[in-house]
Amino acid sequence: MNDKQNITNSDEVSSGDMDLNRRSTMKKIASLIVAGLVTPTIFNSKTSHAAPIINGQLKVAVVYFSKTGNTQFLAQEISRLSGGTLIEVKTVEPYPENYRATTRKAKIEQEENARPEITMSGSIEDADYVFIGYPNWWGTLPMALFTYLEQVSTANKTIIPFCTHEGSQLGRGPRDIRRLCPSSTILAGYAQRGGDLELVKSSRSVNALHQWLASVSV
Ligand SMILES: Cc1cc2nc3c(=O)[nH]c(=O)nc-3n(C[C@H](O)[C@H](O)[C@H](O)COP(=O)(O)O)c2cc1C
Repeated sequence: MNDKQNITNSDEVSSGDMDLNRRSTMKKIASLIVAGLVTPTIFNSKTSHAAPIINGQLKVAVVYFSKTGNTQFLAQEISRLSGGTLIEVKTVEPYPENYRATTRKAKIEQEENARPEITMSGSIEDADYVFIGYPNWWGTLPMALFTYLEQVSTANKTIIPFCTHEGSQLGRGPRDIRRLCPSSTILAGYAQRGGDLELVKSSRSVNALHQWLASVSV
């Protein structure tokens, strides 16, 4: 292997057992990084297949809010592929079980420009690349993520939005993130139809997610 050669994973995806192969590929890559023989890249943009995202020199965090698990699944998958730290943002006061009651409460929060109190399961302090995952709520991020993005420092970090939705795609999310994080670079985001965990977990959706990840260049 050439000095400072970028990493490809074409062997990995041609094999049947993706998970096992991915793990062994990641192990090999990690040892090459430690040995200084390769420069880690976050995404392998040379292949349209899912690429291992190397959490080597560039640190990745995957922050998300999710009420019913759709966005959480995407976040877990991005974290698994990137080695990025998975960070969940939750509201201190949970939303009602009932869908309509939740939509009403979320609408009021948005109209009042509220900042619900939150907890977060980790820190992005060391991260260079921060994925921000949200369910599209009334056209944008749930207000809990407004609270989050005002509480943490995202200066000089690169933010990559992703969302699940039921028709509105990313909505005003990227614009609002840009407003909340004026000193960050915001990359193009990814929208996945949600509201149905089986659909989000289907191989078609997962493949689409992998292709998007492979297309993100840093
Ligand atoms: C309060 C609330 C507001 C929503 N507003 C929208 C919306 O404006 N546009 C849209 O496409 N989907 C909307 N949805 C649907 C969610 O975006 C979708 O079900 C999403 O996949 C849920 O993600 P989660 O399982 O991670 O919570 C809304 C759902 C809720 C609960």
